[in-house]
Amino acid sequence: MTWVEKYRPKSLKNVAGNPKAVQNLLEWTLGWKEGTPSKKAVLIYGAPGTGKTSAANALAYDLDYDFIELNASDARTKGVIERIVGSAATTGTLLPGRGKIIILDEVDGIHGKSDYGGLSALKKWVKVSKQPLVLIANDPYSLPTDFRALTEMVEFRRINSRTIVRILKELCTKEGIKTDEKVLKIIATNSGGDLRSAINDLQSLSEGKKKLAIGDLEVLKMRDSRIKIFDTIRMIFKTTSIDRAREAVFDCEEDHDTIMKWIVENLPIEYTEPDDLKQAYDSLSKADVFLGRIKRRQDWSLLKYASDLMSAGVALAKKDTYKKFSRYQYPKTFITMARTKKERAVIGTIAEKMAKKCHGSKGLMEREFFNVLKTTFTKAPEAAANITSQLGFVREEIQYFAPEETAAKKIEKRAEEITAERIKRRLRSGKQVSLFEFGN
Ligand SMILES: Nc1ncnc2c1ncn2[C@@H]1O[C@H](COP(=O)(O)OP(=O)(O)O)[C@@H](O)[C@H]1O
Ligand SMILES: [Mg+2]
Repeated sequence: MTWVEKYRPKSLKNVAGNPKAVQNLLEWTLGWKEGTPSKKAVLIYGAPGTGKTSAANALAYDLDYDFIELNASDARTKGVIERIVGSAATTGTLLPGRGKIIILDEVDGIHGKSDYGGLSALKKWVKVSKQPLVLIANDPYSLPTDFRALTEMVEFRRINSRTIVRILKELCTKEGIKTDEKVLKIIATNSGGDLRSAINDLQSLSEGKKKLAIGDLEVLKMRDSRIKIFDTIRMIFKTTSIDRAREAVFDCEEDHDTIMKWIVENLPIEYTEPDDLKQAYDSLSKADVFLGRIKRRQDWSLLKYASDLMSAGVALAKKDTYKKFSRYQYPKTFITMARTKKERAVIGTIAEKMAKKCHGSKGLMEREFFNVLKTTFTKAPEAAANITSQLGFVREEIQYFAPEETAAKKIEKRAEEITAERIKRRLRSGKQVSLFEFGN
């Protein structure tokens, strides 16, 4: 058992950090006793590893409520949402007089192409639910504004390193590991406020050891500080500092071509003044010329010019920073490319889902199991539905194995029933004993 699971807080009082958010969550839920509030869903959002999922579950344990939970590994299609959330949202509890909450984890993952319609189904239930809905997201701003407006938003901030050190210290005591504060401080700082990754690092570093010293940290690759592409373009658009703009590109893990596509796609979303746009596009066109030359001549010494033009050139093209929140988009060229490579992509997602559950490589899945699945899906629909439910296949993936549309639809429908039953069986209740008291 991993330590993050072993020491997952089972009560709100053991959720470290974010006391205000935890309090708000509790008060909002208790508020239902006074009558149905205008906002029937709470949206817990914030960085990974800050205790969002744990808090939602701890809430149910603390209040001794029944709860039903849908998480990212459940295929949350429109059908599943209707069946699970819809029925839970409109009916009472198993035991009379007892509360019930519905938890949906990672809702920002619902509205992807594969969960088409899932989000609008959810929205409908958020409007009318008779039970408290607890929604969880990493990035709430990827959700539509009108959806967010229906929710009470509660932010979970990154955990500060002092708190992380305290938790790690308690873990060391429990696990009988000797170490000193300095070591834990480094692990904590390195985690960037992500308690899950701090605990994971501590566990892997102390594997097979009774003592953890500074020297042992050398094997700890400093957590990948390379920032995500969204942060890269946001930084370029929002800064007027040459250094920060350059840094943004320098720290980004994507290649320059990709960064360029993201900037081009999102520039008109951020910049609206014609002069700013003109200047920025001018820089980008020059960056593009350099990128072309680099490719043709394989002359990488030109990269610094392309890089500066797309970063500092764009950053300094604006007169003022735009004070607004923009929802940046995925470059359209990628989407077009994806469509032409649709079949490859479907094979990829199928193999990935299988690889995850079956603990093998994607290549192995494709080589060894695809033929068997083709036969299963065309000859044994009930087995196919079971597999679909377990692996979370969506329609296009089902259709890859069972090309005939009505057959694929039937498998999909049956799989949703199976999923619904499986989730209902998970309907848990009752208090769980806390394994570990983090204290507060
Ligand atoms: N605030 C916290 N208090 C205590 N443990 C935490 C906290 N945040 C994260 N953890 C640890 O990290 C693990 C993952 O937390 P989780 O609630 O799944 O985070 P999130 O949903 O925000 O990504 C938990 O099982 C627990 O071990
Ligand atoms: Mg979570």
